[in-house]
Amino acid sequence: MDDSSFKTAHTEFPRGDSYGDYLMLEQLLTAQRSLTDAHDEPLFIVVHQVSELWLKLVIHELQHAMRHIATGDTAPALKMLARVSRAQEQMTNAWEVLKTMTPADYLVFRNAFGQASGFQSYQYRLVEFLFGNKNAFMMRPHKDAPEHHAMLELAINAPSIYDLTLRLLHDAGLELPASILERDFSQPYLANEAVKLAWLEVYRDTGRYWKLYELAEKLIDVEDNFRRWRFNHLTTVERIIGFKVGSGGTAGVPYLRRALEIVLFPELWQVRSEL
Ligand code: HEM
Repeated sequence: MDDSSFKTAHTEFPRGDSYGDYLMLEQLLTAQRSLTDAHDEPLFIVVHQVSELWLKLVIHELQHAMRHIATGDTAPALKMLARVSRAQEQMTNAWEVLKTMTPADYLVFRNAFGQASGFQSYQYRLVEFLFGNKNAFMMRPHKDAPEHHAMLELAINAPSIYDLTLRLLHDAGLELPASILERDFSQPYLANEAVKLAWLEVYRDTGRYWKLYELAEKLIDVEDNFRRWRFNHLTTVERIIGFKVGSGGTAGVPYLRRALEIVLFPELWQVRSEL
């Protein structure tokens, strides 16, 4: 190459500020510890790890979006939720890579990881709690990890992103009952008629309630994407392990199928039938 455009590139990093230093690649790229020689085990590990990294970003964006929603400053939250949606799409696309693994490929290393399961992912559980899918049982696998347990406990008792959004509805003059505004946040949210009527007002007069309408549609985006991730997990799991029980000890596919029935923001879906 007689091109000299790269000849000025930095090649000495005495301050430890190279690409690898900044990204801690040594730590990152030595964290894939296969337990067997199975050809497909690196795929299995990398797809899980990449998903955990996306979850880390999702949590960062969600928590900041929630702080903005709590103060009524929804514009920055919209941008953060848009990023959550894009990250969810990446997580959903990861199934395309993973499903190149057949049941036979999987069985070569399945026994090596024993009872480990995504069911024990504390980041995933935190995301569920931030979105409002509260279930105290899900904290049990983390009882021996005080830091993770405390983080989940904080989130299960705090308002979810939807609870915070409902306060904004109320603040906008669409009055909601105390049973909604001061509910026990550790419990899953149950659909409420007054909330549905309030959202109907918003969707019937979007010009007047633009801020709430925009936020509601961003919430629909993230729930829609969450459903897609769940569905693709379910079908990938079914094609790899069929109806065998899960490594985490649940019924497996029937458990994952039940999770498809979860509705995070019920009234936002209900209003669509009534417009
Ligand atoms: C061969 C691939 C996979 C199989 C066979 C599989 C299987 C399962 C099964 C059967 C469950 C139910 C819990 C249990 O009893 O274990 C589960 C839960 C879960 N898996 Fe996977 N999984 C796979 C890949 C992944 C990947 C790549 C991720 C990404 C992080 C993931 C994340 C999760 C999460 C978060 C749960 C909990 C879901 C909930 O509680 O609603 N799984 N998986």
